[in-house]
Amino acid sequence: MSPRPIIAPSILAADFARLGEEVRAVQAAGADWLHIDVMDGHFVPNITLGPDIVKALKPHATVPMDVHLMIAPVDPYLEAFVEAGADIVSVHPESGPHLNRTLKRIRQLGARAGVVFNPSTSPSVIEWMMDEVDLILVMSINPGFGGQTFMHSQLAKIEALRRMIDASGRDIVLEVDGGVTPETARLCVDAGATALVAGTAVFRGGPEAYAANISALRG
Ligand code: DX5
Ligand code: ZN
Repeated sequence: MSPRPIIAPSILAADFARLGEEVRAVQAAGADWLHIDVMDGHFVPNITLGPDIVKALKPHATVPMDVHLMIAPVDPYLEAFVEAGADIVSVHPESGPHLNRTLKRIRQLGARAGVVFNPSTSPSVIEWMMDEVDLILVMSINPGFGGQTFMHSQLAKIEALRRMIDASGRDIVLEVDGGVTPETARLCVDAGATALVAGTAVFRGGPEAYAANISALRG
């Protein structure tokens, strides 16, 4: 039996006009982390929010803030997000010239460092730097928008990364993001995932449904 996965609701699917309330509601409903999607309209074809919103939400957050940066260049903004309250900062290897340096910088600033794999990105990207990584995030969609369909092709990558993590002997979180539903959540956990991001599947139905939506994802 797999251990209980960390559930990280993506606030991208929340009501942006009531973000503080939404954060409190989803935490009361059992969220383990808050997943915050930062998009720049350049690295991905959508624009969302910046460090000021992270800072505004921090006083409402009773769980870790899991910040997913989809911006390029990423390095100039790391400090602003950590100062704003990010506990975990995850970056795409394609968003800067020196992934190793970027991850070291995130840790130096005091946050946990994550690497995000686009559907086309190979696990080999981190083969020689497992010691620098606290979290691995596998995208099961192309980043940019919520509400897309889960790509089953990424399950084999989750399995491959699970093997790499086990071989490293390190306690690295293996998170999946995109199209996670109660059905696909099960497949991810069986493949070795330990954390699940979900926007649509958590926020659908409004606040009264959040607790049931989260427990459905836990299986
Ligand atoms: C997309 C984001 C995801 C997104 C997931 O680029 O990284 O976190 O919010 O949304 P759902 O769960 O609706 O696929
Ligand atoms: Zn995300």
